[in-house]
Formats: sequence, structure tokens, C-alpha cells
Amino acid sequence: MSDYILELKKVSRYFGSVIALKDIDMKVKLGEVHCLLGDNGAGKSTLIKTLAGVHKASEGEFLLDGQTTEFESPKDALDAGIATVYQDLALVPLMSVTRNFFMGRELTKKIGPFNIFDTKRANEIARAGLAEMGIDVRDPEHPIGTMSGGERQCLAIARAIHFGAKVLILDEPTAALGVKQSANVLKVVARARARGLAVILITHNVHHAYPIADHFTLLNRGKSLGSWLKADVSREEILEMMAGGQELEDLESELAEFTRTDAAANAGEGSTFEAAAAAQNAHH
Ligand SMILES: Nc1ncnc2c1ncn2[C@@H]1O[C@H](COP(=O)(O)OP(=O)(O)O)[C@@H](O)[C@H]1O
Ligand SMILES: [Mg+2]
Repeated sequence: MSDYILELKKVSRYFGSVIALKDIDMKVKLGEVHCLLGDNGAGKSTLIKTLAGVHKASEGEFLLDGQTTEFESPKDALDAGIATVYQDLALVPLMSVTRNFFMGRELTKKIGPFNIFDTKRANEIARAGLAEMGIDVRDPEHPIGTMSGGERQCLAIARAIHFGAKVLILDEPTAALGVKQSANVLKVVARARARGLAVILITHNVHHAYPIADHFTLLNRGKSLGSWLKADVSREEILEMMAGGQELEDLESELAEFTRTDAAANAGEGSTFEAAAAAQNAHH
């Protein structure tokens, strides 16, 4: 067995003349949360789609447990133990929790010549699988549409674990969630790690990523800025690298300037808005 469950060597991906990824190196271990960070358009989704069998790399090598691998389809990747939870989740809102849990892998029983979806057993398994992840489902036959965004993320993760994923890829799982729901999703991520899975967590929010991550890889405009173990990099250093030190300084001085002019306007006889409104009224 290799030290790394996944390894990318100089992986590039082009879309026509667009260079979405260039020479990406990345190593992922079982039992770690590997955070893939980068601003919008950095290439994060493209990178995980090449891991998940959606896109093929244009150049470079991809090793799964030390073996050079190329997936023909997302199903190939899933069969190899790489499960991906996309932001839109591919869950069907009107289907029951249980149906969603088993979607594509229906549990059937034979009654005479027919294969029937075994609802009772499926409900039990779905409920137990979710309970293990700390999610309490009152009625597994309720439609998934009644669950919150955070609960749906948790369901998708629990499903991947239940069906034996070794690598769990989560694309911006907390992007659309509030603080409390995000915390719940991150707890489930921690449980997946405790089970020995490798988790690749994609986010542009360092504050969500930092507490749970063991390892960071930073993307910027399709290139890797590097990989660091948590012990070797602070939250502030990551923030600065992501923003590009200079850009962040520019932004800070711009904000300071904005606050000054705003304060000056408020300190006057009234805000500029009020003054303008008064001037308008004077005409009538
Ligand atoms: N299917 C595609 N066709 C053409 N360009 C694409 C395609 N997918 C992504 N890109 C481009 O690749 C770059 C990286 O995009 P993406 O991987 O979605 O970034 P991120 O997920 O980090 O926001 C962007 O410039 C995007 O426009
Ligand atoms: Mg993306």
C-alpha cells in the first residue's frame, strides 16, 4: 500500500485555450482532511472533477493507492471508492430520505418473479446510517425536501460512508449554510476522518476550513501555490497568500479611506443623503 491514497503529478487541464489547471501536484492521505482552497475561478471544481471521473486530465498523472489510474466515468471513480458530493447534491427533493440514501444502489428483495424495493429494511439501514453520523431522522419516509441544506449535506456524506468510500470529496459544502449548519457539516466531516477516510474539502472560506483541516493546498488561477501541513502554516498566512499580500493591503487601505470619508459625512450637519433629500424637497 502506498503512503498516499491519491497522488497528482503535474496535472493540467485545458478547455480550448483556457488553462483551468496547470502542473498541479497534490498528495492525499487516508485519515486526513485535505483542504483545497482558492478564490472563485481558481480551478478547485475542475480539479475535483478530474479526480471524480467527470473530466480527464489533459496532461499529468493520477495515482490511486500508488497505481496510475484513469477513470472513464464518474461511476468508475465511485466504484474505486472516490465519492463526490457536489454543491447541488443531486438529491431529488420529492423522494423520501431512504430513497435518496439508496438512489442508484437500490436494496431489493425477491417476491416471486419480482424484485421489490425492500422499504422496511432500507428505512432501518438509512436511519441507522444517519444516526451514526449524528443525524436523527424522525421519519425516513419523509421527502428529502423537508430537510435543511446542512442535513442534506450530512445525508450525502453518510451515504458515501455507508457505501464504502475511501475518499470523500466535498465541493463547497458550507458555502450556502449558516454558522450552525456549517458546524454540523464539519462535525460529520470529522467523523468521516475518524473512520479513516480521506476527505478533500473544497472551500474559499479559510475560517471554515482551518479548524478542521490537517493539510492545505492553495490554488490560484489554475496554479498551485503549494501544500502545507497545518503545523507549518497559520490562518493569517493562508489568508494573505489567498488574497495575494499586496491586494489585501490595498483593500485594507481602501476600506480605511472609505470609513474615514463615511465618518466625516456623518459628523457633518447630517448625512449627504439627508442633505440631498432636503434640497429636493425645497423645489416642491
Ligand atoms: N467546462 C468548462 N469549459 C470551459 N472553461 C471552464 C470549464 N470549467 C471550468 N472552466 C474554467 O476554468 C477555470 C476554473 O474554474 P473552476 O474550476 O470552476 O473554479 P473554482 O471551482 O475554483 O471556482 C475558470 O476560468 C472557468 O471559467
Ligand atoms: Mg467551484
